[in-house]
Amino acid sequence: MKRNIGTGLALYPTPLVVIGVIANEKPNWMLVGHLGIIGHDRIMVSLAANHYTNQWIKKNNILSVNIVSEDILKKADYMGSVSGKDTDKSQVFDYHTGDAGAPIINDSPVVIECTVDDIYKTPGFESFILKISNTYADEEVLNENGKIDYRKLKPVLFEFPTYEYLKTGDVIGKCLKLDETSAVR
Ligand SMILES: Cc1cc2nc3c(=O)[nH]c(=O)nc-3n(C[C@H](O)[C@H](O)[C@H](O)COP(=O)(O)O)c2cc1C
Repeated sequence: MKRNIGTGLALYPTPLVVIGVIANEKPNWMLVGHLGIIGHDRIMVSLAANHYTNQWIKKNNILSVNIVSEDILKKADYMGSVSGKDTDKSQVFDYHTGDAGAPIINDSPVVIECTVDDIYKTPGFESFILKISNTYADEEVLNENGKIDYRKLKPVLFEFPTYEYLKTGDVIGKCLKLDETSAVR
């Protein structure tokens, strides 16, 4: 018998990303765990409306979504603890500028450069619907077919209820071929 635990968020774990914007001609970075996929060419990040980052997304219409691997978790965690309103976070990551103008973290293995397609507003929040302009991936996380190998990338996962980071797990089977490839029946 399941217990009804109310209407709190339960859709976890999610991947963890650092959002990068240009703010006053230098980068500002922010940690984000509330995000999603829309269709096949858009993603969504859900931000509290009062964050420093939001105004720069709206002003420049360009941002980067940097996937957090274990290697950059410590720096990424810091980006979730202080605001660009009163702390200069621009020196923490080495970065370069993407083809569309967003700041790209050199040490993030996969970075998605996006423009803003729409903003879905709910009380206290702005969820940005983003169109993908470019995806940059380190050679080390690509397989022989040029696709991202998430077993190599090992994206860090996030869960809000206990405010913890989780390690990416092992492969348990191939999609639609579980009978042939998996111990899960
Ligand atoms: C693990 C973690 C996940 C977070 N996820 C989100 C999120 O999805 N949306 C959000 O608005 N803030 C999120 N935050 C909080 C922001 O990262 C934090 O308030 C940050 O300082 C905002 O930066 P800014 O004011 O420079 O924009 C998260 C913080 C942590 C530690």
